[in-house]
Amino acid sequence: MKTGKTVRESMNETTQQVLPGDTNPMGTAFGGQIVAWVDLAGAVPAMRHSRSTVVTASIDEMHFISTIRLGDIVVLKAAVNMTGRTSMEVGVRIEAENPRSGKRSHASTAYVTFVAVDENGRPTEIPFIIPESEVEKRRHAEAKERRAKRLAARKRLAAKDG
Ligand SMILES: CC(C)(COP(=O)(O)OP(=O)(O)OC[C@H]1O[C@@H](n2cnc3c(N)ncnc32)[C@H](O)[C@@H]1OP(=O)(O)O)[C@@H](O)C(=O)NCCC(=O)NCCS
Repeated sequence: MKTGKTVRESMNETTQQVLPGDTNPMGTAFGGQIVAWVDLAGAVPAMRHSRSTVVTASIDEMHFISTIRLGDIVVLKAAVNMTGRTSMEVGVRIEAENPRSGKRSHASTAYVTFVAVDENGRPTEIPFIIPESEVEKRRHAEAKERRAKRLAARKRLAAKDG
């Protein structure tokens, strides 16, 4: 019988620091580096939830709403919002913390879909997610809407490829 797991069982919070090699010529964080950290931080709840190898199927569009500067501590909070049969949407909230003042600002939010795969790279069934708090239930409902849009986009792309 398929089992369920709570969001708390797999959530992850990690930190990184923006070093000179992570910046663009303006001295602010290079967006591609932030995306790589998002992918890494988001994979942790997906692996914990499924106890499988996971691959990134898609990353929804990302908007950087405030600047992340050289020396900032980047806090990445990741949790499973929703599960399908083999896939999971993981939400990753990115905050930039000034190490001197301690002030934190919301820099971006990303939604990453991971698919659990077996040793042959084939999608494999995962436990369902149990949202408990009001926030988790809201995120779960919103994730269902995003999944529908994502799958419609995937269908359009497949049709174009012929
Ligand atoms: C992701 C992947 C395993 C899906 O395999 P597939 O044969 O298309 O499998 P399916 O059509 O059965 O889809 C499996 C699940 O993935 C989901 N999925 C597939 N493509 C998706 C996409 N682009 N966005 C979101 N979810 C996607 C499906 O909705 C399905 O979810 P469900 O089981 O929860 O309903 C496969 O496309 C793959 O290996 N892609 C490369 C992944 C990779 O290398 N990532 C690293 C970055 S390049």
